[in-house]
Amino acid sequence: MARILIVDDELDVCNILKDYFVFKGYDVHLAHDGQSAVKLVREIKPHVIMLDILMPGMGGMEALREIRKINTTASVIMVTAITDEEIIRKTQELGADDYIVKPFDLHYVETSVMGKISSALDQAEEKLRESYEKLQKNFDAVIKTLARVVETRDPYTSGHQERVAVLSEAIADEMGLSAERVGIIRMAAIIHDLGKIYIPAEILSKPSKLSDVEFEMIKSHPLVAYEILKDMEFPHPIADYIFQHHERLNGSGYPKGLSDGNILLEAKIIAVADTIEAMASHRPYRPAIGLDNALEEISINRDILYDPDTVDACLRLFREKRFTF
Ligand SMILES: [Fe+2]
Repeated sequence: MARILIVDDELDVCNILKDYFVFKGYDVHLAHDGQSAVKLVREIKPHVIMLDILMPGMGGMEALREIRKINTTASVIMVTAITDEEIIRKTQELGADDYIVKPFDLHYVETSVMGKISSALDQAEEKLRESYEKLQKNFDAVIKTLARVVETRDPYTSGHQERVAVLSEAIADEMGLSAERVGIIRMAAIIHDLGKIYIPAEILSKPSKLSDVEFEMIKSHPLVAYEILKDMEFPHPIADYIFQHHERLNGSGYPKGLSDGNILLEAKIIAVADTIEAMASHRPYRPAIGLDNALEEISINRDILYDPDTVDACLRLFREKRFTF
């Protein structure tokens, strides 16, 4: 709610303005001299200040000077009986935004106040938008840094997460998910193997078949990623999407062996993209299996291991829409 501070030593003036603006739905505060006005500005951070000039103790001119030292964004409207041009010019110099001469017309005062409030709220909104964009940029940079950390440990799969992210995004988009959801899936996919930072590099890049113990270690990576990410404040449960990206519809996946109804759609999409990218690419322990075989794999296991809608969207992308990594 917009806050107004009315500063006047005449109680009648204060009450007329207060009643009018409270009735119009504003949060109204009163002060009767400059000193208490300055104190209130500090405390309540008003959007608009209506400031009389002639008051006992600290007058309006001095109060304006003090207010501008602590608050440059509130709009100050001088409301006074003084009509001296020199005084008017001086208040402008000190940072007043408007000057209304008593006796005033209430509608005129309201027009001035509303104009000031809407520009104050516009400014606040613009500031909020800027800081949100900044936050978003920093957040993206953190995600990219995390992605790079994984890939420095596992250079053989360099680019894997990025390509899985590109394909996950395309599948989600093809499935008609909202732009926000598509963006979140991309973000989760780009760090889906984050948990591999826990696995020794020799195992990640081992050129021969993994032993059972080594494979058990590999299987811990969704949980490790979950533990790293679970306390971060994401707008969506990204840690859960990553935790579930090796789960399969028939319960044969890991780490929990979840089945269809318990796996999040976001995780199902990343799972298909991950499978396609991994099979289409060369690995230290095997040559590339190839894109055609990868598409065959998801077709055969449609509705067994992989979500049918996700598989259909993925096949459409490659077979009809000529998608490439
Ligand atoms: Fe993975």
